[in-house]
Amino acid sequence: MKVLVIGSGGREHAVIQKLAESKEVEKIYCAPGNGGISVQATQVDVKATDLEGMVAFAKKEGIDFAVVTPDDPLVLGMADAMEAAGIPAFGPSKAAAQIEGSKVFAKSLMKKYGIPTAKYEVFQDPGEVVNYIERENQFPAVIKADGLALGKGVVIAQNLEEAREAVHSIMEDRIFGKSGNQVVVEEFLTGKEVSVLAFTDSHTVAPMVSSMDHKRAYDNDEGPNTGGMGTIAPSPYYTPELAKRCMEEIFLPTVEAMKKEGCPFKGCLYFGLILTEQGPKVIEYNCRFGDPETQVVLPLLKTDLFTIMRAVRDERLGELDIQWSDGAAACVVLASGGYPKKYETGFPISGLDQQDDCPGVIVYHAGTKRQNGVFLTAGGRVLGITGLGKDLPEALDKAYSAAEKITFEKVHYRRDIGKK
Ligand code: AMP
Ligand code: GLY
Repeated sequence: MKVLVIGSGGREHAVIQKLAESKEVEKIYCAPGNGGISVQATQVDVKATDLEGMVAFAKKEGIDFAVVTPDDPLVLGMADAMEAAGIPAFGPSKAAAQIEGSKVFAKSLMKKYGIPTAKYEVFQDPGEVVNYIERENQFPAVIKADGLALGKGVVIAQNLEEAREAVHSIMEDRIFGKSGNQVVVEEFLTGKEVSVLAFTDSHTVAPMVSSMDHKRAYDNDEGPNTGGMGTIAPSPYYTPELAKRCMEEIFLPTVEAMKKEGCPFKGCLYFGLILTEQGPKVIEYNCRFGDPETQVVLPLLKTDLFTIMRAVRDERLGELDIQWSDGAAACVVLASGGYPKKYETGFPISGLDQQDDCPGVIVYHAGTKRQNGVFLTAGGRVLGITGLGKDLPEALDKAYSAAEKITFEKVHYRRDIGKK
């Protein structure tokens, strides 16, 4: 099989490393890919959001199966475009990707089908949002842009001034473009956050091992929100009782609801959960694998990933018995100094070769490029260093020992991944 993976981050690198283990996969292409990915897959110079260009490439190259991982191509309909061209694809349809592409869609789905989530209101008018927040006088107030916003569309406003500023930049300055046509204002929930990624073919739901992201840029959860600075799996807070409850109250009802709405979800559905005193509630859905959650979840997968993706696409997931290893994984993200704000790129990365054969360490490339055999930084999140162990302390130890040996100018990483 010739497989095309669409995307370019650490998540895609993790997917590709797993696909490369499959006996069924003969050759992997990645569009647009990155420096590290180019070692295992043929890099294709087509933008992830270029539907026409991607289909043309896939047809010309005789691609047998496409894997669409990032949110924006999915929301644009990349999986539909591939299928329409006769190329089977892993990833939800454009209609199903709305579960991430529109917070208003996701919230009304949960309300309609009684899926536990934070209480909310929807607004189209900036003046009305501010009036509402002023009247409610409940802080922190959670303000969410309706559409995709590079993971930056959520503002937790501590006071009215911050709320006003957020509404102004989302709805008037349009920092996220059309994504700010509407906003959701919701109740602030407290509790431990857990991410559960699940394979689903719209009939069966197969949750993966749970994980926990660290979204803030600096230690002790300080600084701005990022795409994710590190992850651990499994989450120690996600007990078997909770898993059972989430399956009954959240996972199955969500997949059923999507079917009833006429947009069955097939692919990887990401449940962002918060474990409140009243029980688990959904804070977000993503229509795809998380990044960097994938970098700790997939290394623990024992079953052939390609077999699973194929079964999801063909709606035969129920036939598989997916196996996970009992160990733990931890990923530390090495970022460019300044990320998620302004940062420089083009710095050579040293210490990578020492990690090549290091047992229990996997180096995933996120923002790198390869030039004359040298890896250079090329993005905000540069590398994800995953450590594997029998338990979390061992996994963290592996990840941090490796992270210390890899360096580039102005490297920044959190020292407290997995501490809490
Ligand atoms: P998201 O971009 O949807 O992943 O949201 C970013 C982060 O905002 C989440 O990981 C939570 O930490 C936080 N968040 C989102 N919604 C809520 C909420 N209703 N209550 C408390 N925190 C929230
Ligand atoms: N790490 C969070 C996400 O992928 O949305």
